[in-house]
Amino acid sequence: MTREQRIRDGNAVEVRGLVKHFGDTKAVDGVDLDVPEGTVLGVLGPNGAGKTTLVRCLSTLLVPDAGTAVVAGYDVVRQPRQLRRTIGLTGQYASVDEKLPGWENLYMIGRLLDLSRKEARARADALLERFSLTEAGKRRVRTYSGGMRRRLDLAASMIGRPSVLYLDEPTTGLDPHSRNEVWDEVRRMVTEGATVLLTTQYMEEAEQLADNLTVIDRGRVIAEGRVHELKAKIGGRTLQIRPSDPGEVHRMVGAITQAGLDGIGGATADVQDGQVSVPIASDEQLTALIGLLSERGFAIAGIDTTMPSLDEVFLAITGHKASAPQGNKTLEEVTA
Ligand SMILES: Nc1ncnc2c1ncn2[C@@H]1O[C@H](COP(=O)(O)OP(=O)(O)OP(=O)(O)O)[C@@H](O)[C@H]1O
Ligand SMILES: [Mg+2]
Repeated sequence: MTREQRIRDGNAVEVRGLVKHFGDTKAVDGVDLDVPEGTVLGVLGPNGAGKTTLVRCLSTLLVPDAGTAVVAGYDVVRQPRQLRRTIGLTGQYASVDEKLPGWENLYMIGRLLDLSRKEARARADALLERFSLTEAGKRRVRTYSGGMRRRLDLAASMIGRPSVLYLDEPTTGLDPHSRNEVWDEVRRMVTEGATVLLTTQYMEEAEQLADNLTVIDRGRVIAEGRVHELKAKIGGRTLQIRPSDPGEVHRMVGAITQAGLDGIGGATADVQDGQVSVPIASDEQLTALIGLLSERGFAIAGIDTTMPSLDEVFLAITGHKASAPQGNKTLEEVTA
């Protein structure tokens, strides 16, 4: 069978009704998800949501209790060996050996993956170069910074040229600079054709990297969609309008307030920034507002809409903050 035939409907990952319980803990409790080939799915959820358990099931490290998962056309339960050859995994906890130099780590993994000595050497050299670790590659991993270590982890997961990559919280604990470095690498892998399933607790990370988003809480999918759709669905946007003449902000606020456009509650002026903010709930309101301003003869220098943050999205869906401990209301309780 060709690779194209194995990947049905263009999905590199297809999960249906996946269940993994540990005693009474329903770590993964009936998860469905699809990751179209060449895209990034962000799996967002708080501590204990079941992200790592899901990734472990999808990489054959755990056997699910029920449900199916097909990755790159291979069934996780029935074809674990083939599946392992097509995936790369950067686990939540560093998987490289601290006592060995970076280069040795990569070389060893290459040998474990059945590469010849020559191939393993070439691959270690190439990946170190690509992740800007050529010099550091000679040193023991113990001496690396958090960002370097994470980059080495990413390099390690790419030795076997995987078509599907799982990244389990790839930037947790990293400083903003290192986080950006890792993000750049993930973007590059995607440009080169990899399909990525990324778990994260950072809203910003999902926003930066993911095409689609699945929000999980207590082992269940509680929301899914394209990142911007999900954000737009949950909360309204705020429109920021900058009149060409900053002195016009008050007159603009007056005009908007007096017009009493349907559903537009109010406008506020920020004299300092020379802009007016208007909360809007729909595209119709946006259109009506722009119409009004041009009718009144305002010259506009710039318009921006800001979306609600994913933190706000999570709060709106679950009734608790993403970082809050368990024990709050479930989605069903909130929407009941
Ligand atoms: N091997 C295990 N044995 C028993 N319980 C487990 C095991 N692995 C995970 N769990 C439990 O399953 C639930 C989900 O854990 P999991 O590690 O998948 O969450 P997570 O979303 O990755 O959390 P974090 O963001 O903290 O990494 C938790 O309640 C956890 O305690
Ligand atoms: Mg985890």
